[in-house]
Amino acid sequence: MGARPNFMKIAPVIDALIALDDDVTQTLVHTGQHYDEEMSQVFFRDLGLQTPDVNLGVGSGTHAAQTAAVMSACEPVFEQARPDWVVVVGDVNSTLAATLTASKMGLKVAHVEAGLRSYDRTMPEEHNRVVTDHLADLLLTPSRDADANLAREGIAAERIRFVGNVMIDTLISLQPAAERRWPDLSGQFNSAGLLGLGEYALVTLHRPSNVDRPEALKAIMDDLAFLAESMPVIFPVHPRTRARLDAMGIPANTGNTGESGSVTMVEPLGYLDFLSLQANARLVVTDSGGLQEETTFLGVPCITVRENTERPITIEQGTNTLVPSSGLREALVKALSQSGRAASARPSIEYWDGKAGERVAAALTGALGGS
Ligand code: UD1
Repeated sequence: MGARPNFMKIAPVIDALIALDDDVTQTLVHTGQHYDEEMSQVFFRDLGLQTPDVNLGVGSGTHAAQTAAVMSACEPVFEQARPDWVVVVGDVNSTLAATLTASKMGLKVAHVEAGLRSYDRTMPEEHNRVVTDHLADLLLTPSRDADANLAREGIAAERIRFVGNVMIDTLISLQPAAERRWPDLSGQFNSAGLLGLGEYALVTLHRPSNVDRPEALKAIMDDLAFLAESMPVIFPVHPRTRARLDAMGIPANTGNTGESGSVTMVEPLGYLDFLSLQANARLVVTDSGGLQEETTFLGVPCITVRENTERPITIEQGTNTLVPSSGLREALVKALSQSGRAASARPSIEYWDGKAGERVAAALTGALGGS
């Protein structure tokens, strides 16, 4: 694992392997792709994750430099451990780098969250998904559409196991703890009184397609200011986005006041605080992959500022709407015209049931036993 969205995906897999009676030894390797307290350590506390056995400390860099650094640093660790499986999750540069390294060493790779495709090769994650899936020996998928994507690419059915969504395992197990954070949080975000349940918007943005082009980011910020005229807008700002806002001279920290008409920008939040704010929001605006799934599970309306998604199930069965950045204002106007949240919006999606980690563990140990 290496980056923020990996942590909540690996946690249930580790727990499920520990819970097995089998004598499974695990070595937890953090590549260090994300390293700030609020991008990494806070998740270890919130998720109850063990301290990594190894931290490769690779840090940031260009795609080539970061991928190469993870590869060079992984190799001696894999050589020493010679594991039966190298388990990778998600679609970040660390996922690709660990997979490439292990495959070239003749080690077997299991990819959790395999088969997702945006079919958009301008996204770095799409390269990571395609290469990882074609090299990995065991492809553990979150939804049936992912199985179909892999089959279309000629990947043999024996390599594919539909296990469900591990990130939803973590959400289900930690939602009660997240809800207990609500009274503190709602007070903290609104000095004038408690932030109303279902009466505010929660925003995250970090994709290069939205934040690396100043004109696109400026237009999105204008649209968020428009939204803030109607409801409080809370925007925990990713480091990539903060750097871009700084470069544009837009102050990225307005404090935790929650004044009407202004977007409240704060540092990235931990898992429990963020989940609590997400579950109680009237609306989420994002470009994250994980939030499309979490809002779908929670039944919270979500506007995703992207041209495409590798998670179509969140649109077909969930609460997600896809809009290009040029269509954000119109989507916000439409969302504002709809009265609060529908109470029964939670869909039931196959194997998004809190047991995906157990299925991953079963697939790994079953395959270890040669079945
Ligand atoms: C990465 C993943 C993306 C995932 C996202 C979640 C890739 C290609 N991208 O994007 O799929 O959705 O994580 O956050 O792997 N930085 C810090 N502190 C940190 C980490 C990063 O300040 O702890 C800054 C650095 O300036 C860095 C920049 O953020 O250059 C981008 O970090 P990087 O890991 O390259 O990509 P993300 O945009 O975080």
